[in-house]
Amino acid sequence: MDEIRFDDQVVVITGAGSGIGRAYAHAFAARGAQVVVNDLGGRRDGTGDAHGAADKVVEELAAYGGQAVASYDSVATLQGGESIIATAEAHFGRVDVLVNNAGVLRDKSLLKMVEEDWDTVVNVHLKGAFCVSRAAFALMKKSGYGRIINTTSGSGLYGNFGQAAYMAAKMGVVGLMHSLASEGAKYNVTCNTIAPVAASRMTDDVMPPELLEKFKPEFIAPLVLFLASRENQETGMIFNCAAGWFSRSAICCAPGLCIGDTKRTIPPEEIREHWEAITSLADAAPLNSVIDSFGFMEPLIR
Ligand code: NAI
Repeated sequence: MDEIRFDDQVVVITGAGSGIGRAYAHAFAARGAQVVVNDLGGRRDGTGDAHGAADKVVEELAAYGGQAVASYDSVATLQGGESIIATAEAHFGRVDVLVNNAGVLRDKSLLKMVEEDWDTVVNVHLKGAFCVSRAAFALMKKSGYGRIINTTSGSGLYGNFGQAAYMAAKMGVVGLMHSLASEGAKYNVTCNTIAPVAASRMTDDVMPPELLEKFKPEFIAPLVLFLASRENQETGMIFNCAAGWFSRSAICCAPGLCIGDTKRTIPPEEIREHWEAITSLADAAPLNSVIDSFGFMEPLIR
């Protein structure tokens, strides 16, 4: 088997001071990458900050010859995103891979969630992915190469109780992926999104210890490394991964049916009458862009 290597490649990982991001840092460094370990430190809910988290991972990598530099900027501002990428450029001269992984958690039911909780969560997960990707994409576009991996969550993709901001932000990164995938296509910049499940401080109180044992953060890294490799040409895809399970998810569109004729407004009773066919997912498939959805209306608009 040809080994997937990252020699001479620069990999920026946000939130790499702990959990899954730390596992990525080790996996990339072990395969020759120069790694920017970004982490502003802080608690699970995003409060506080401490350089220690990123520094510690850089030390761990250095112990076996891994090349890495720490970055302490928050992903949540454009200035922070630019500074993270500037650190990569200043130390290693380029950026080949960006893993948008930084995250915080403030789980609350809708009526208990205050504006600050919403803003903090959305700013780190969604705005953060935008801020760092924007700066990285500018370099990748110039060099004609880049691999970006976003991090969503099963909560956002499929739903969960009491995580409104988190779920909204995690679906937002899927939208951002579509944008990066389409704008990056002609520059050999791909963007994919993963939905991991792994033992970390984010999940240490949601699963019993014996189950957490089976969800090692290291088990997520192989998929991310493949998506980050030169040979990967896939873009715009969503993948689940956990405990050794890998699968693809997709937002699909079903053909449905054309009831109208572009002249009359359908009464709601006709919607009721055709409800089964409207809600059917038979023959549903992912689309390459919104333009493809026009194909289903073809009988009406030809
Ligand atoms: P974690 O809490 O161990 O790691 C997140 C890291 O992001 C922390 O080290 C934290 O300091 C850093 N961070 C937070 N705000 C930041 C900011 N503004 N700028 C830079 N760094 C910041 O959590 P875990 O589990 O490793 O999560 C990694 C990613 O995976 C997150 O995006 C999370 O939402 C996602 N995820 C994790 C799941 C799991 O089962 N652990 C499930 C689904 C998604």
